Amino acid sequence: MAAGTLKATCLVPWYELNIMYNRRVGCCCYYNGYVLSWDNSRARDVFDYWNGSLISKIRADIVSGSADSGCADCGFYRFKEDGAAYASFAPPPDATSEQKDNLECARKRFEQGAITVDHTPVRFYFNFGVGCNLDCIMCGQTADRPDDTSLNADILWAWKPHFKKALTLSLIGGEPLVLPQSLSFIRRVVDDEDLVAVTLDIYSNGATLDKQLDLLSRKNKVSICVSLDGVGSTYEAIRRGGNWDKVERNLLAFKELAARRGLKWGLTTANLIMRTSLAGLERLIDWHIAHDIVPNFSDFSLAPGIEKTFLAENIFEFPHLLAEVPDWQRQFDVSAQKSESKGWWEVASILRNMKLDLVQKLFRPIP
Ligand SMILES: C[S@@+](CC[C@H](N)C(=O)[O-])C[C@H]1O[C@@H](n2cnc3c(N)ncnc32)[C@H](O)[C@@H]1O
Ligand code: SF4
Ligand code: SF4
Repeated sequence: MAAGTLKATCLVPWYELNIMYNRRVGCCCYYNGYVLSWDNSRARDVFDYWNGSLISKIRADIVSGSADSGCADCGFYRFKEDGAAYASFAPPPDATSEQKDNLECARKRFEQGAITVDHTPVRFYFNFGVGCNLDCIMCGQTADRPDDTSLNADILWAWKPHFKKALTLSLIGGEPLVLPQSLSFIRRVVDDEDLVAVTLDIYSNGATLDKQLDLLSRKNKVSICVSLDGVGSTYEAIRRGGNWDKVERNLLAFKELAARRGLKWGLTTANLIMRTSLAGLERLIDWHIAHDIVPNFSDFSLAPGIEKTFLAENIFEFPHLLAEVPDWQRQFDVSAQKSESKGWWEVASILRNMKLDLVQKLFRPIP
């Protein structure tokens, strides 16, 4: 993916407002430049952030195609095809007029390259804190634990009039299904008549999903992305403290409840390709095909506290680690073929691009 291309087309700073427990405010998880600070003591006008100096700068960088930007080396686009989109300005069929108007305004301001905007975020993304019930080997938040710093649901709720115009409220952590402020936020969203048309979107490890199914079933529009990385013993080697049988049961119970009640629920999974997970990639794809659940794949980044895992597991930084996965090319090839047969073109393309990246690194001519 050519960096210039993606910067000229990335719609994210016109689409998403991203707020984190550590006071970072941005428009996505991938931006690598300076950040605004969230005021966790009081509710401020959403435009203080949404038209604030950071997001205005990202918009300006994208409009000008500046190479000198926190967007350089953006992880979202890394293994995607040119032209891949982060999100769409097409309204869902059941959007309210308020949602459609806001989305249409967002589309126009993006196309105009507006630096200051008059629409509100189409997606609000809240990271409530690092508290978690698992201890994954590659978790980038490892060094931040223990820490009970959290976004405050009361303060966020002051933006409810803006939430009504958004398409999606995304929640993450740490583990959003165990963090108290996140659960408090979920309780408000599921019971609010004004937010019926807004999707509640949760990024979770799924380990306690069974305990929250009753709560979630009060809302029709829910999407959940559960991180797996592997099945069976591979899952348990990476997701320390997790139990494969339990998480599998939870995911299948979520699907079964949605089907039985006719709920508009979506389920996907997130999977990091690393040395340990690559060895079980075909099994992971087989599991997804058997249950008709679409997987996402990406690589993982270095963060304080996970240096040993990075050295032992990051095949994209240290391709020599592939010697420990003798059938690694076959794992990619078969998994991409099976994904393609299932009609999951984007999954197949990401896996092929990952393999290509590794082949190029391993067989790079000596200068
Ligand atoms: C931090 S977790 C929070 C949500 C939830 N606890 C979970 O595991 O899905 C969100 C995603 O970040 C991924 N992740 C964790 N550490 C990472 C790292 N060092 N680099 C890239 N992604 C990472 C996880 O695998 C997960 O898919
Ligand atoms: S970091 Fe990536 S996803 Fe975020 S605004 Fe920049 S190009 Fe878009
Ligand atoms: S479940 Fe998510 S937040 Fe918890 S340790 Fe694993 S990756 Fe990190």
